[in-house]
Amino acid sequence: MRAVVFSRYGDESVLELVRRPAPAPADGEVLVEVRAAGVNPVDWKHREGAVRADRPFPLGMGWDVAGVVRATVPGGPAVGEDVYGMLPLPYGGAYQELAVLPASAVAPMPARLTYAQAAAVPLAALTAWQALEAAGARSGTRVLVHAGAGGVGHFAVQFARHLGARVSATASARNLDFLRRLGVDEPIDRAAGGGTAGSAGAAGSAYEGAFDVVLDTVGGPVQHASWRLLRPGGTLVTLPEPVDEAHRLPGVTARRVIVTPDGEALRRIGALVDAGAVHVEVQSALPLEQAAEAHRVSREGRVRGKLVLTL
Ligand SMILES: NC(=O)c1ccc[n+]([C@@H]2O[C@H](COP(=O)([O-])OP(=O)(O)OC[C@H]3O[C@@H](n4cnc5c(N)ncnc54)[C@H](OP(=O)(O)O)[C@@H]3O)[C@@H](O)[C@H]2O)c1
Repeated sequence: MRAVVFSRYGDESVLELVRRPAPAPADGEVLVEVRAAGVNPVDWKHREGAVRADRPFPLGMGWDVAGVVRATVPGGPAVGEDVYGMLPLPYGGAYQELAVLPASAVAPMPARLTYAQAAAVPLAALTAWQALEAAGARSGTRVLVHAGAGGVGHFAVQFARHLGARVSATASARNLDFLRRLGVDEPIDRAAGGGTAGSAGAAGSAYEGAFDVVLDTVGGPVQHASWRLLRPGGTLVTLPEPVDEAHRLPGVTARRVIVTPDGEALRRIGALVDAGAVHVEVQSALPLEQAAEAHRVSREGRVRGKLVLTL
């Protein structure tokens, strides 16, 4: 089968399109013929060695797949069924013609999505879902999502709206209308008010103490600025980095969420997509051969929605 692999950590040029033997499913795993693979920032972090797997090179790449089941397990999806799912971290293996995943990590593909759109969903949407769950977001909660136009962010704002939360989100000016179309109550220009987290990040701003929940999808100065935006008893969920204890403020709960595969949650997310309650934004779909270009674009940090690779 064709597969994108890498044999040393480094820039995009270490990615190689090679032929390698098809993976064999272990107990409890299904074999999926991949039609599209999602691209996430963790992919290039892995390629650069910031996220490491303790397996010998060459290493596979990517965690999101949409495709057709070719081998299954009792109680699993049917052979020939369209599914989507997320491989467990930390071993990638989605940028290839055949992928193996635990049967519990896949769900039927939402009927209204193409393979490319479906591959855009699993890791980012599960992250958003699990982050909001960890934060206890519900009807009436006031939620701020940083980078609301990004992969995780655009799912988070829609899931939070669906829960009945009041949703604010930061983005650059060109994405504020996009946030409105996703149902964000209050889009915030992240350049306003000094840069790092937009006006929502400026200490002493109207947003100080305003939120029950803040999702930090950016890290660094954005995480630091986020503490002050929470009311006493509020919750900060960080995704890119651990909680920086040096900036902790009393009375605020903070935790990092690391996404885990969950076929059952993907079923529920798929139902929201098919009901028209959640839109999946794909900025571009590139052929597998252009994996390096997809990494280059993702690393620039300006993607609206998702990038995917098609096979
Ligand atoms: N812990 C976990 O399990 C987990 C899971 C998924 C993702 N993550 C991490 O979470 C981060 C976000 O992931 P993602 O997939 O959503 O990334 P992404 O899709 O690449 O995010 C791109 C978006 O980030 C926005 N952005 C860039 N810099 C910003 C800043 N300084 N302030 C506010 N917004 C900014 C951009 O919006 P504008 O162009 O509008 O500014 C762009 O739309 C990554 O670091 C990723 O590795 C962690």
